[in-house]
Amino acid sequence: MLRVLFLLAIHLLHCFALLIASVYAHNQKLDEHHHGAVMVSATIQLRDGKGLPRLGIGTAALRGYGSSVVEEALSYGVMLIDTAQAPEWYSEAEVGRGIESFLAHNDLMSSNQCSYGDIYIVTKIHPRSFERTAMNDALTKSRNLLTRNTKPLDLVLLHSPYCWEGHCTSEQLRHTWQDAWRNLEEQKRDGFLVNHIGVSNFDLPLLQELLQLTTSKANNNGKMTQVTAVQNWCDPFHQDREVRAFLRAQGVQYMAYSTLGSQWLHKDVLQGINPVLTDKTLSRIAATYSVTVAEVVICWALQEGMVVIPRSTNSEHLLLNSFRGRRSSAMNSTNIRNGDLKCFLAPQDMQDIQQLDGTLGVPWD
Ligand SMILES: NC(=O)c1ccc[n+]([C@@H]2O[C@H](COP(=O)([O-])OP(=O)(O)OC[C@H]3O[C@@H](n4cnc5c(N)ncnc54)[C@H](OP(=O)(O)O)[C@@H]3O)[C@@H](O)[C@H]2O)c1
Repeated sequence: MLRVLFLLAIHLLHCFALLIASVYAHNQKLDEHHHGAVMVSATIQLRDGKGLPRLGIGTAALRGYGSSVVEEALSYGVMLIDTAQAPEWYSEAEVGRGIESFLAHNDLMSSNQCSYGDIYIVTKIHPRSFERTAMNDALTKSRNLLTRNTKPLDLVLLHSPYCWEGHCTSEQLRHTWQDAWRNLEEQKRDGFLVNHIGVSNFDLPLLQELLQLTTSKANNNGKMTQVTAVQNWCDPFHQDREVRAFLRAQGVQYMAYSTLGSQWLHKDVLQGINPVLTDKTLSRIAATYSVTVAEVVICWALQEGMVVIPRSTNSEHLLLNSFRGRRSSAMNSTNIRNGDLKCFLAPQDMQDIQQLDGTLGVPWD
C-alpha cells in the first residue's frame, strides 16, 4: 500500500514538474515574441508631407451607434475615421456628431487637446453624385457634417466605379467614373472641400486605367499621380495581392476594408459564419500570443503595410482594436498618434496567413 502511495506521489510530482515546465516554455515563447515585436509606424508620411494614420475605424452599418462608436474610438487615440455619403450603409451626420462631441469633451477634460486638424476624415462619393455640380453639392454637405466647415475633407474616394444596381437613376448613370475622377481632381486642385483623393472597389485593370489617366496628365506639369489611396476589400482569405503589389510600385497607399471577414457574411455563402474570426490557423496563431484572432488579423494587415479600419460596436473590441487592450502587452503602444504600433507576428506566422489566400474561393465573382 505504501509502495503504491509512494509511486502515486512520484507520478503526481512528475506531472506537476511537466506542467511548470510547459508554462515556463510558453511564457518564454511569449517573451521571445515580445522581444521580436514588429514596430509599425502609426502614421504614414504622404508625398505632400502630410500624415495618414495607419489605424482607423469603419463606420458602415452603425445606424444609431455611429456617434458613440466614433467618440469612443477617438478617445482611445484612433485618429482615422472612415465613412461615406451612401445613406444605404452610412450616416455622415452621426459620424460628425461623434467627432464634435469628442472634441467638446476633450477640450474640457484633457490637457492633451485635439482639434479637427488632428483627425483624419475619409469619406466616399456615391456614384449618384459623379456629375460635377452634384459632386460639389455632396462634398459641401460632407464637409459641413464631418468637419463643421473647419477644414477640407482629408481623403475623398470614389466609392465604386459603377453604381450598385437600382441605386442610381438613368440620368445619374450617364456620368462615368472617368468623369467623376476629373471632377474630383478639380476639387483637389481647388483645395477647399478636398485634400487627398482616391478610389474604392477598383480592380487591377481599372486601377491601371486610372493611373494612366492621372499620370499622363501629371507628366505634363511634372507632378506625381494624384491618387493618394485605394480602399478595397482585403482579408486573410481575399488578400488582393496583385492590386497591392501594383499600388506599392506606384507609391499609392492601400487601405483594407472588411479585414475582419464581414464580406463573407454579407454574401452569406457560409451560413452566417465569419470564416476569418473562426479560422483554425488564425486561432492557433492567436493562442500562441494569447491574443484574439481580430488582433492577429489587424497586425497581419499592418505588417503587410496596409491602413486598417475595423468596425465594432463593442467597447472591449474597440479597445483591443485600438491597441489599448489589456490582454496583450505585446499590442500596447505608448503613443498611437505619433509613435509606433507594436505588432508581433513572426515571419512564419505571416507565411501561414499568406497560405490562406484564395482557399475559400470567391463564388459570386
Ligand atoms: N469601400 C467600401 O465599399 C467598403 C465596404 C465595406 C466596408 N467598408 C469600410 O470598412 C469598414 C470595416 O469593414 P466592415 O464594416 O465590413 O467590417 P469588419 O471590420 O470586417 O468586421 C466587423 C465585424 O467584426 C467584429 N469585430 C470587430 N472587432 C472585433 C474583435 N476585436 N473581436 C471580435 N470581433 C470583432 C464586429 O463585431 P462587434 O461589433 O461585436 O465587435 C463586426 O461584426 C466599414 O465599417 C467601412 O467603413 C468600406
